[in-house]
Amino acid sequence: MTSIIHVNLAQDSYKIVSAAGCLDNLGALIASTHTQSRDLGRSVIVVSNPIIFRHYGLRVINSLEAAGFTVNSCILPAGERHKTLASVEKIYNTALKHRLERSDTLVALGGGVIGDITGFAAATWLRGINLVQVPTSLLAMVDSAVGGKTGVNHPQGKNLIGAFHQPRLVAIDPEVLSTLPAREFRAGLAEVIKYGVIWDAALFYHLEAATNLSQLRFLRPELLQLVIERSCKAKANIVEQDEKESSLRALLNYGHTIGHAIESLTYYRQFKHGEAVALGMLAASEIAVASGTWSRTEAKKLLALIQKAGLPTAIPAELDVSAIVKALSLDKKVKNGKVRFILPVKIGEAFITDQVSPEIVTQALHRLRSLTVEQNSLSALDLLPA
Ligand code: NAD
Ligand code: GLY
Repeated sequence: MTSIIHVNLAQDSYKIVSAAGCLDNLGALIASTHTQSRDLGRSVIVVSNPIIFRHYGLRVINSLEAAGFTVNSCILPAGERHKTLASVEKIYNTALKHRLERSDTLVALGGGVIGDITGFAAATWLRGINLVQVPTSLLAMVDSAVGGKTGVNHPQGKNLIGAFHQPRLVAIDPEVLSTLPAREFRAGLAEVIKYGVIWDAALFYHLEAATNLSQLRFLRPELLQLVIERSCKAKANIVEQDEKESSLRALLNYGHTIGHAIESLTYYRQFKHGEAVALGMLAASEIAVASGTWSRTEAKKLLALIQKAGLPTAIPAELDVSAIVKALSLDKKVKNGKVRFILPVKIGEAFITDQVSPEIVTQALHRLRSLTVEQNSLSALDLLPA
């Protein structure tokens, strides 16, 4: 099963190819994107981390060499704490050592961390060289590898340094998910659920129809393919309409406003990004119910889906609601002093607003806390008012 999605961005257009086993075909895939006006060079640096490189590095290198590329690698330490300018510098040093030219290519083989770092190095080395994304986590496949946001963290905040730089190709081999830790898989599902709520109702209902989602082995290969394909399509559609996030693209931040506040208040240690997004989606859902923009029935469906995906639904007891509300004002997305929220209208549709008062946020967070307490102590999903 091969799926090809086109991301149409004039001279920066590219394909997202998703096919089981395509890792062994990467060299040919890259070679096939050469055109008269777009040369991906002869020299490639594969950037990865030790865990992923051990699993897949050799296959990628063999495939690139078989297609005639000269291949070198740059292995960065694993983890979000290494998403820094120091890691970018290691890539620059490798590029310098192997005399990468402007037409040559960086291949990001990894999750969102490797993808974002490598993307930023590609955006800035020689004022911009080619980038190919080979995402290996579910989150990277459905979100970070597509759309051209690249960057690293500053000691004072996440993703504060960055650039837009579209890849020339995104090559997804769903088979690599077999080695992804289960918790990382579930974290990626949060972003999939996000697309279902903000853009693609059919995707939501496909997930709703599955008996269990919490582990890769519960998903039939066709459902996994559908999840990746529809998520990439949703992201591609949105990015095509608003590449630099002047308006519509902000929809992709659904669940991220309160999610980021929870991540930063727990020092990025307690929750994976996708887990915090799941809590943020539930909080935004409660705000939307309180604001009268969406129904309790749909809020219940979302809660049930997030639970089925094995994602957290409870805000930690030790987190003060007032601390969360205060942290919101420090969010990157604050504009003219107003916090921007993405609120659902119905499954498959959401809107952007900065008209949510701190009182409604406070009330919604308390409500979410009481719902999840009820749910934990009484399995009370069915007791929620319709
Ligand atoms: P990650 O890159 O840290 O990967 C998660 C863990 O899974 C890591 O330990 C990694 O080594 C491991 N891993 C990945 N693929 C594997 C595989 N196939 N087999 C075994 N282990 C594997 O985290 P992530 O969730 O992929 O990405 C999170 C990052 O993405 C954050 O830095 C976030 O800011 C960024 N992000 C960027 C965008 C964007 O648009 N650029 C969007 C969303 C998130
Ligand atoms: N992950 C949000 C975006 O790409 O815009």
